[in-house]
Amino acid sequence: MKQEVYNSIEAWFNSYVAGFENEIEEIKLNINLKRNHSFRVVNLIAELSEEANLNESDVILAQIAALLHDVGRFEQLAKYGTFSDTEDINHIKLGIATITENNILSELTEEESKLVIECINYHNELVLPKSIDADLLPFVQILRDADKIDILHIVSDYYSNNKQGNNKRLEMELLDKTDISKKLYQSICDEKHVDFKDVLTLNDLKLSQMSLIFDLKYKKSFKIVSEKTYLKQIFETLPKKDLVIDMYRQMKIYLENQL
Ligand SMILES: [Fe+2]
Repeated sequence: MKQEVYNSIEAWFNSYVAGFENEIEEIKLNINLKRNHSFRVVNLIAELSEEANLNESDVILAQIAALLHDVGRFEQLAKYGTFSDTEDINHIKLGIATITENNILSELTEEESKLVIECINYHNELVLPKSIDADLLPFVQILRDADKIDILHIVSDYYSNNKQGNNKRLEMELLDKTDISKKLYQSICDEKHVDFKDVLTLNDLKLSQMSLIFDLKYKKSFKIVSEKTYLKQIFETLPKKDLVIDMYRQMKIYLENQL
């Protein structure tokens, strides 16, 4: 895989995103947020590549998948005004359809295109199927780690520096109630990433995002999350209830044990 191939896909991506000019301030902000997220995920791939055992050519291929992994978010946001995935409005389906319709992967071999599509398909799955192809696995894992690290970056920054309600789409339009879902507590005690269907309030959302650490694979990923103090930053915006303090403590210990 040559750098020029990545460069031409990046040029398409930039012009595609520029086509989503929007007058609504919050939509404009979220389009930029997703654009910048995509590029940061591309950069994180390079940081994690050594541990994932990817060679130079593999890294470029993984970066193509990273650049395109959320390409469906732009249409989802501009057309439907949401970041919530449903059966019909799903950013993965929308993204793969966009890639296919625009023939974005025409410079890749059939095998490489398939790999990029599979990475996009699996990047957001709660649990990966055990049958996943061994050659595909490092590409999927590196994308999942890079994506989660940057989600933690975005949300910790947002919760720390914004008034609640500033970006309703980023808050998944959830209500700011103090109750914590019991299923969510159980998932965290079991060291499992919380299923979005168990997220009922904004506090649940924050805790579920903290629980992304249970899905990380690479030592370097834990190191980045720990050094950037993402968990602490989110915890500081949560109500200091015993249950919340207990969950934070469990996640902190888990993170420290992976370093
Ligand atoms: Fe993403």
